[in-house]
Amino acid sequence: MLAGYWKYVVLSIALAAASPISPSLRASADRGGILVGTAVRPEQLSEPAYAATLAHEFNLLEPEDAMKWEVLHPAPETFDFTQADRIVPFAAQHNMKVRGHTLVWHQQNPKWLTEGRYTPDQLAQILEKHVKTVVGHYRGKVFAWDVVNEAFDERVVGKFRRTIWYDQPGIRRARKGSSYIEDCFRWAHEADPAALLFYNDAEAEAMNPKSDEIYAMVRDFRRRGVPIDGVGLQMHISNLHPDIPSISENIDRFTALGVQVHITEMDVALPVDADGNAEAEDLQLQAEIYRNIAAACLSHPGCTAIQTWGFTDKYSWIGSHSKRTQGAALLFDRNYRPKPAYDALRSVLERSRHR
Ligand code: XIL
Repeated sequence: MLAGYWKYVVLSIALAAASPISPSLRASADRGGILVGTAVRPEQLSEPAYAATLAHEFNLLEPEDAMKWEVLHPAPETFDFTQADRIVPFAAQHNMKVRGHTLVWHQQNPKWLTEGRYTPDQLAQILEKHVKTVVGHYRGKVFAWDVVNEAFDERVVGKFRRTIWYDQPGIRRARKGSSYIEDCFRWAHEADPAALLFYNDAEAEAMNPKSDEIYAMVRDFRRRGVPIDGVGLQMHISNLHPDIPSISENIDRFTALGVQVHITEMDVALPVDADGNAEAEDLQLQAEIYRNIAAACLSHPGCTAIQTWGFTDKYSWIGSHSKRTQGAALLFDRNYRPKPAYDALRSVLERSRHR
């Protein structure tokens, strides 16, 4: 009797050590047919706590920087996949899906490209080759791509951002609205017809002039058969009172067009002290935001993924981005302990059924 009891105690301790939190986010998400993901950096995969938490909690990942131009395409004739090729097999090994990020953006581009003084014809060729090479390399391994990122300008309502791709000098379609974006989607589709193709942007989460523009573009693409499958809402939040009904209405109108919505880069930045610690009250408020955004997403069958921009406060981009005045934005603290936001997200995932 006693021996049996002790066997039980030892077994439960062993199990508890193997899975400190049970059920995990991914176990809850899997049951509901939902993707729960995070951005990752390859150099951190060698840290045991990082890798274990990642594999245990998420069924989706996305390279935070490793698939950006400056990393993948360091010289005109050189593609370097080494960084991303550490991440993609990790996902396969742990039965996780991969989102690719990002093929066309105005930031984190190599100098040879931005200072190369290429003509529109040359730039179009360079971009087409980049898109097809990268998507081709990950064909069958990356299930969804952020094809174009942040093409609209939040400072000038209804305007496309002025970038090398759009009009400086542009890829032959300068100032012809979304037609350069259309080219990119067609190239990506040619390289992997099975991949889901997303347009991704910031500050277009709620109903506002920017999301109106994106909506109009996606509706036009759908009507004309341009291969677009989804819209990514980044969801970097620093205002602690986001307009949830408006975000829900926005998700509603996009999914009504027949495209999927992914929450792609969620974090909720909090004011922090010099040691990077947030107030307990703010951590509760943050948990409510994660809860409400997740619930808004999952109340639409077409909102199929919730992804955070990193998972441990140890490595979030918010610190350096805000000169250390903000932080504590993610689901786990710097020691990989789940925060109130984690419990809030998990409880929403637990209750949801997408299939
Ligand atoms: C950020 C990364 O998190 C940082 O590591 C990098 O230094 C700068 O870019 N919108 C995006 C992401 O689409 O690619 C950005 O990622 C954050 C804002």
